Amino acid sequence: MGNSNSSGKQAGRDESAGRVPVGIRPGPDHRTGTLPDSAASGNPEGSRARSQAVPATFAEAGGLIEQYEIVHPAVPAEAEGMTILHLTDFHIRKPLLGGPAWPGVLKRLEAWLPHHDVDLVAMTGDYGDHPKDDQAAVGMLERLAPMLRGRLGVFGIFGNHDGAGLVERAKRVGGVRWLGCESVAFGNGVTVVGASFPEDLVGASAESEGGFRVALIHYPTEVYTAASLGIDVVLAGHTHGGQVRWSPTMTPHTSSDLPSGLASGMYRLGGTVLCISRGLGEAVARVRVRCPAQACVYTLRRGEAARTETLTAIVRW
Ligand SMILES: [Fe+2]
Repeated sequence: MGNSNSSGKQAGRDESAGRVPVGIRPGPDHRTGTLPDSAASGNPEGSRARSQAVPATFAEAGGLIEQYEIVHPAVPAEAEGMTILHLTDFHIRKPLLGGPAWPGVLKRLEAWLPHHDVDLVAMTGDYGDHPKDDQAAVGMLERLAPMLRGRLGVFGIFGNHDGAGLVERAKRVGGVRWLGCESVAFGNGVTVVGASFPEDLVGASAESEGGFRVALIHYPTEVYTAASLGIDVVLAGHTHGGQVRWSPTMTPHTSSDLPSGLASGMYRLGGTVLCISRGLGEAVARVRVRCPAQACVYTLRRGEAARTETLTAIVRW
């Protein structure tokens, strides 16, 4: 949110020992009341019968972590149940009176991360708010990156608030693989496609080796390009869900060229699922109204889903 202007290799690491898997799996370590699979999916008949992606109905870390299923017929059998933690739009700012730039939302995330396991971490931009905040934003990334332990890796792209100075310094932060215009394929049939600039999505897609493609892009408007390219899932941010709004469909301003009622949520266009996160931080003013910060954990589920001719809401959040 802010200014409106709106690319196979094998990769992987497994540092999951001793950590709690995230997903729709009930267990004593889910501290805030994990629902059984059928209840979490909202459909007792399970994924084979689902025709739309299904929202999980609980949240963790004080409401920050929200879990949703992405139901898609092309999810490889080896990727069934794969979990993706999506972080976006941090908008870290230089502290007015010095000290660390570590807002409360990151304290909640920091408390949650050591106790949960995910397969992939995806970050979709806007780490700092303004070039004067680059030092604080890079400091945040240096502190956060060691906590992000996706089994298949941690991947990031940049957003419209990330200037050349931040990009250059962020690339030196260990533990994050930054995707400017490229793709990375995993052994489970999933390929992550990263495009830090909208115009790079075509190139990144062309470079990919197929598979079930999950694209990381900042602008949700790129869903139209993604759908034309046959990309399966798009993870985006930028809108902050409107940041100040009455409801998910009543959002006065989103900095997006999509209709304001499409500020956040899960949508389908053709065979492409678009997830627009409300994000973690704020632009312009440090205020959110009826639009809390959000970090989504998506679980890939293979299931039937009708193609749509227009951008159609599956879940609004
Ligand atoms: Fe943003």
